[in-house]
Order: sequence, then C-alpha cells, then structure tokens
Amino acid sequence: MLLRYKKAYEKIAMGLLSYMPGDKSVKKLQETIHQYENEENWQLFLLKQDEDIIGLVGIILDADSYTVMHLSVNPSFRGEGIGSKIITKLGDLFPDLECKSNEETESFLRKCRQKEETHLDE
Ligand SMILES: CC(C)(COP(=O)(O)OP(=O)(O)OC[C@H]1O[C@@H](n2cnc3c(N)ncnc32)[C@H](O)[C@@H]1OP(=O)(O)O)[C@@H](O)C(=O)NCCC(=O)NCCS
Repeated sequence: MLLRYKKAYEKIAMGLLSYMPGDKSVKKLQETIHQYENEENWQLFLLKQDEDIIGLVGIILDADSYTVMHLSVNPSFRGEGIGSKIITKLGDLFPDLECKSNEETESFLRKCRQKEETHLDE
C-alpha cells in the first residue's frame, strides 16, 4: 500500500532518502523533505508492507506527466520486486499521466519498462 507522506514519517523517509546516490548530509536530506512538504507538485509516498515502511518514492507532478525524482527500498527487502511494485502502484495512482525519470532514476525505470514489456509478450 502506498501512503502519502506526513510529518510522522519524517525520520523513516529521511533514512530511505539517504540511500539515493549523491549528497547524504542531514542538511540536504532535510531540504529535500521540506521541498516535498512545502511544494504542492512535489509528492512523496511510502510503501507499507505488513506493518513496516520499506520503500519510498518521490515525484514532481506536472499537467500530463510525473517525474520520479527519488526511489528507494530498504536494503533488507531489495531484489524482491518491491522497487518495480512501487513504480506499478504509482502508475495505478496516475493512470493518465506519462511516467518520466531523472538522471538518477532513469536506468531503474528503463528496467521496469523492459520487465513490463516482457510480461506483456508472454
Ligand atoms: C533501485 C532500487 C529502488 C530497486 O529496488 P528493488 O526492490 O531491489 O527492485 P526490484 O526487486 O523490483 O528489481 C531489482 C532489479 O533491478 C536492478 N537494479 C537495481 N538498481 C538498479 C538501477 N539503478 N538501474 C537499473 N537496474 C537496477 C537489480 O539489479 C535487479 O535486477 P534483476 O531483476 O535483473 O536481478 C533499490 O536498489 C534502491 O533502493 N537503491 C538505492 C536507491 C537508489 O539508488 N535509487 C536510484 C535508482 S532508482
């Protein structure tokens, strides 16, 4: 289940954001969280499985697309399809919008698309 970010999730969200490549300083992580809190078209979601929050995805929403800016899965749960599940759930939330990537999320999103195409071919 994808949950919309709220303040109560700040620490877990920062922990998950810290797995993204690049600047992991507390200052930078707080700036990123504040962007999601304060800018209407920046939206952050957390993936809850059983009772645990194990993934995060952050997007910028535009009129006819959204760009995946941040995507992260708790290392204990990687390689189990959680990352691609988050992308699928995001697509279910915004079925009419095109899914775009940034430099950091591009290669994983390409991989998700390839997996989807393989499944469709089967
Ligand atoms: C990227 C990430 C979200 C994938 O989560 P996950 O739950 O392990 O993803 P899935 O189980 O759905 O898919 C795993 C597959 O994606 C591949 N993969 C992982 N990171 C990748 C990347 N950056 N680019 C392309 N493929 C990637 C894995 O090698 C694996 O391949 P396989 O199925 O051929 O074995 C996770 O590795 C993560 O949190 N990484 C740290 C954060 C990060 O780097 N984010 C930026 C990239 S989105």
